[in-house]
Amino acid sequence: MGVNAPLNRKLRMGLVGGGPGSFIGRVHSIGACLDNRAEVVAGALSSNPERAKQGAADYNIDPDRAYGSYEEMFEAESKLPDDTRIDFVSVTTPNHTHFDIAKEAVEAGFNVICDKPMTFDLAQAEALQAAVEASDVVFAVSHNYTGYPLIRQARAMIQNGDLGEIQAIRVQYIQGWLRDKIEAEDQKQAAWRTDPTKSGAAGAFGDIATHAYNLGRYMTGLLPDQISCHLKTFVPGRALDDYGTAVIRYENGCLGTVTASQISHGRENDVLIEIDGTKGSLQWRQENPNEMYVRANGQPHKIYTRDPNAPYMTPAGAAACRLPAGHPEGFFEAFANIYGSAFDAMIERAEGKSFEKRDTIYPNVYDGVEGMFFIQQCVASSQQDAAWLSLKHAAARR
Ligand SMILES: NC(=O)c1ccc[n+]([C@@H]2O[C@H](COP(=O)([O-])OP(=O)(O)OC[C@H]3O[C@@H](n4cnc5c(N)ncnc54)[C@H](O)[C@@H]3O)[C@@H](O)[C@H]2O)c1
Repeated sequence: MGVNAPLNRKLRMGLVGGGPGSFIGRVHSIGACLDNRAEVVAGALSSNPERAKQGAADYNIDPDRAYGSYEEMFEAESKLPDDTRIDFVSVTTPNHTHFDIAKEAVEAGFNVICDKPMTFDLAQAEALQAAVEASDVVFAVSHNYTGYPLIRQARAMIQNGDLGEIQAIRVQYIQGWLRDKIEAEDQKQAAWRTDPTKSGAAGAFGDIATHAYNLGRYMTGLLPDQISCHLKTFVPGRALDDYGTAVIRYENGCLGTVTASQISHGRENDVLIEIDGTKGSLQWRQENPNEMYVRANGQPHKIYTRDPNAPYMTPAGAAACRLPAGHPEGFFEAFANIYGSAFDAMIERAEGKSFEKRDTIYPNVYDGVEGMFFIQQCVASSQQDAAWLSLKHAAARR
């Protein structure tokens, strides 16, 4: 039996973005290829055609399939025979470009892994959802924190009722790298993230609060009702928020908070989620991702370690592990778990079978739409002095 049975071959990746000096494109390629289930065979790596072609060697992409633009890649790849053509496209470019690239890929019949926030605004996200629904492609959004084994473990434990009814969700994503106005020095990643024509309507809230909000939704499955948000721009002259807090009322009465910061001295990528239920509480931090704390009054505190062989691990948690306990797993592996789950669906599609599009273990187009609605409502609420606004959207997964 070969890799990706019954397909018995690797899946072929076309990478968009990830050119020289970029960040997340390389992480996507490592995540996709970590389990030997995929290979990068084509790319349109940069908005600059020359740089796009130059960068291809870094990925061992054959010069014939190093394209100057994504349009060129989709056109040329569509004409290749079935046993050569790319199976999926990874969209790893700045936010304002996601929609055109992802929609064109979907309409050309390629499966898509799109980075977050899924699009530039909600209208684009809803149009992309419609395009995905009209197609038969697999579409995933790389909210990569959902790929950590202990996050999938926590989700399964919450679904099993181990924490009782969920009453509070506190999520924070705290960074410090934009404490100074480094966008004025043309720092590549800072420049587009603080530019409203490229990043979208929000800064910190578009870039990292979307991850935080998605994580709470993913782990608890609770449906949101209303949101009140206060955004701040602390660095003088910056065009978008660099700090903020949102309060979320969920339909079951649960109260949630999301805090995001890019201006907290010395803070790196501190994603912390704490969930309180009637029977227990849990706490997980991405900077120590192989441990999760579960507590109940009157009992010793429990530390769950990422251990694929431990009897306390749920099937979903254990399946997301690669190494024996104690050998650290992290960011790349979490990315690989998003890819691996999407690959399972791609194989079903390739075999002509129907596959789940909405209730998936990987974040999908509906989560992407929810993320864009979250951003839109946060900005609108903040502009109205933190007014309570609806957070109900038809895309919400049930
Ligand atoms: N999931 C995560 O953890 C995570 C982390 C970082 C960034 N991101 C997201 O990934 C995306 C990219 O972020 P980054 O930090 O890697 O940005 P970056 O600026 O480091 O890299 C972007 C790359 O895209 C290329 N590019 C731009 N327009 C293009 C086009 N039209 N065609 C082909 N290539 C093009 C650039 O040349 C560059 O190589 C953003 O949407 C960001 O929000 C997600």
